[in-house]
Amino acid sequence: MQDFIHQLHKAELHMHLEGSLEPELMMQLAERNSVQLPYQTVEEVRRAYQFSNLQDFLDIYYQGASVLQTEEDFSDLTWAYLRKCKAQGVVHTEPFFDPQAHTQRGIPIEVVIRGIDHALQRGKAELGVSSYLILSFLRHLSEEEAFATFEAALPFGDKFIAVGLDSSELGHPPEKFQQVFAKARAEGFKAVAHAGEEGPPSYVWGALDLLKVDRIDHGVRAFEDERLMQRLIQEQIPLTVCPLSNTRLKVFAEMRHHTLLEMLDRGVMVTVNSDDPAYFGGYLVENFMALHDALDLTCEQAKQLAANSIRASFLPDSDKQKYI
Ligand code: ADE
Ligand code: ZN
Repeated sequence: MQDFIHQLHKAELHMHLEGSLEPELMMQLAERNSVQLPYQTVEEVRRAYQFSNLQDFLDIYYQGASVLQTEEDFSDLTWAYLRKCKAQGVVHTEPFFDPQAHTQRGIPIEVVIRGIDHALQRGKAELGVSSYLILSFLRHLSEEEAFATFEAALPFGDKFIAVGLDSSELGHPPEKFQQVFAKARAEGFKAVAHAGEEGPPSYVWGALDLLKVDRIDHGVRAFEDERLMQRLIQEQIPLTVCPLSNTRLKVFAEMRHHTLLEMLDRGVMVTVNSDDPAYFGGYLVENFMALHDALDLTCEQAKQLAANSIRASFLPDSDKQKYI
């Protein structure tokens, strides 16, 4: 099964670059930049990765991101992820980055974008892995701060394709960001948003109707709302689902309770993704294998999920046809 999944042409549509920071690179960058971390060893870092919910994880994730300071750091981080893509048969990726996690610490946005873009260009040229970057707003901050971030990023508007919305979901519904998403769409950007991870189905409705997103990130709680399920199926709205993330953050108590395959069989346009692979115990292939081990994912279902990832990507149709 592992070999079968490896050779499928896959796109990854939900992966936070800061969440691909492996403990080894984290320690290396902490040393390089003289950043104090509350860990002495890689093992200690790994032991800290026990989460009871999304916020637990986010606290550790933002702390880890503090070692990223220079253009070279952002490039090294992105390059390490792209090598993983190459090794796992990921032919195209649309990763997120969280500029506010860095600008809030005084790192200029151009340092972040230039570093990431350098590695993405190299990934295309040297590894044959194509990519479109997604700029994600932190939803626990204000819409004014999202606007300021978007304005600061606009001079680099050719380096990202879409805006997204992530961080603490509960208490920060989509409507909080209606204006900035309207502005981004008017400027020609695509839009995606995390919704229905910990938040209720109403947040998925809000992301669709108010933010007018092209895809929903996670969306697993849509399963609780039959009318919403019908809409997702009818309109073939993609959900970028992250199985290992969902079990690590206790959205599902165990993998055997995950509803991804039921959604697939009902005709929802679901895809498999890794979210924050360095924190949740695996990249894309490990997420597919987790579905195989706990839910008997079949080759036919794996093939369908891989094809969905290409279809749900922002690639032009001519490129999609090469992979499906
Ligand atoms: N930022 C990084 N990973 C995230 C997730 N799973 N949900 C919300 N924000 C995130
Ligand atoms: Zn995510």
